[in-house]
Amino acid sequence: MNTVATSPLHPSRTTALFTCMLAALAGLMFGLDIGVISGATQFIQKEFQISDHVIEWIVSSMMLGAAIGALGAGWMSATLGRKRSLILGAVLFVAGSLLSGAAWSPETLVAARVILGLAIGVATFTAPLYLAEVAEEHIRGAMISLYQLMITIGILVAFLSDTAFSYSGNWRWMLGIIAIPGILFLLGLFLLPDSPRWLMMRGRRQEATDVLQKLRGDADHAAREVADIEEQLKTPQRGWHLFLENRNFRRSVGLGVLLQVMQQFTGMNVVMYYAPRIFQDMGYATSAQMWFTAVVGLTNVLATFIAIGLVDRWGRKPILYTGFSVMAVGLGLVGTMMHLGIATHGEQIFTVAMLLTFIVGFAMSAGPLIWALCSEVQPLKGRDFGIGCSTFTNWVANMIVGATFLTLLNGIGNAATFWLYAALNLVFLAIAFVLIPETKNVSLEQIERNLMAGLPLREIGSAPSAVSSGFSRHAAEDVAS
Ligand code: BGC
Repeated sequence: MNTVATSPLHPSRTTALFTCMLAALAGLMFGLDIGVISGATQFIQKEFQISDHVIEWIVSSMMLGAAIGALGAGWMSATLGRKRSLILGAVLFVAGSLLSGAAWSPETLVAARVILGLAIGVATFTAPLYLAEVAEEHIRGAMISLYQLMITIGILVAFLSDTAFSYSGNWRWMLGIIAIPGILFLLGLFLLPDSPRWLMMRGRRQEATDVLQKLRGDADHAAREVADIEEQLKTPQRGWHLFLENRNFRRSVGLGVLLQVMQQFTGMNVVMYYAPRIFQDMGYATSAQMWFTAVVGLTNVLATFIAIGLVDRWGRKPILYTGFSVMAVGLGLVGTMMHLGIATHGEQIFTVAMLLTFIVGFAMSAGPLIWALCSEVQPLKGRDFGIGCSTFTNWVANMIVGATFLTLLNGIGNAATFWLYAALNLVFLAIAFVLIPETKNVSLEQIERNLMAGLPLREIGSAPSAVSSGFSRHAAEDVAS
């Protein structure tokens, strides 16, 4: 077993490599899509002579496409299969980026970004699903962290490339160049095997066994996994029916939806889409705006490591409490500085530091943790449906945030806009206390049992002994630790 694990050429190494590559590239595309527009808007606005309102549409049409893509992705990944859905997603991604680079009018740009969105909606649903089905159990957790890390790296790369092209003001290159990683992703996908679970769902048992044998390099292991999958498939996915019939499932779906609304209304994407504009409001010239935006991207990447390091030690709730508090303070102070007026260099730097503090708050908490919680709280029978609903919500809420920021700035002013988001973070802190369960070190089966037994949502991560004997929550935590 050990010799197998340490041999560099063993097939299981190849699996890990393939799945890592897919996680990396799918996350990277997600990040590129989010990050690429921020540096381009001012040049697009100049060339097409369009209002802030049209810019909001160009920004948020991508999220509209993503919401639609995420809705259709469940059906597509079940009928076409995971791999073919991802290939379709990658083709749309390449087409969307090339069309945005070549766009001849604001309308074409909106259409191109809807196409990009469709691609990313499909990929954000299908890639984690494929990963969970192909990766071995012991690397599954690492895959989720790697995926979020790559989202942040994608955003950073987009910010840096935007900065490089900002000197010539060439927004077409900014938007078009992301077709290159898209093409790499597409080529990489052809090397991947079909998901063994999907093959089993289609009754293609022999092919599933062959894939697993190739991936794991061990016939016994493959046979065991095939038997496990067969067992799991006896619990058919019947999300919509379960949703209509079962109140407890409606609660977990509602929780997933609420979690994603919370993630988006922290205001993170306001900074991701409009950072240069925010730095402009702080009094910075164009090149400083772009460089500070790149610093925002780098801070986002680095602070994600805090979450990776802490998530299994502190647990989800303490990290979320810290994150929401840090975000509320950071944004509250940005608003206050804008209200008082930013006149000196020192005041500018302080305001930038507060914005970066906000980014750290998000990246160490809500960024990765909300995605993890959204899949942990759903029962097996309704997992695809539940995750589909929360992913869809992520994009709709993302669109609302992107489509309203400039209107808010122009309507209530920049200070009040940041205070509004700071206040929302305080509300989310309270919600985290009241509603969010602690899922650290609890098996998914236990969470499901607690949910279906009707325990309050914040208790569904309780240890078994505490549930059956009616111990207090604190006692349950003691037992769990
Ligand atoms: C969110 C994205 C956000 C990104 C920032 C993700 O978890 O879902 O909306 O842009 O984090 O790093």
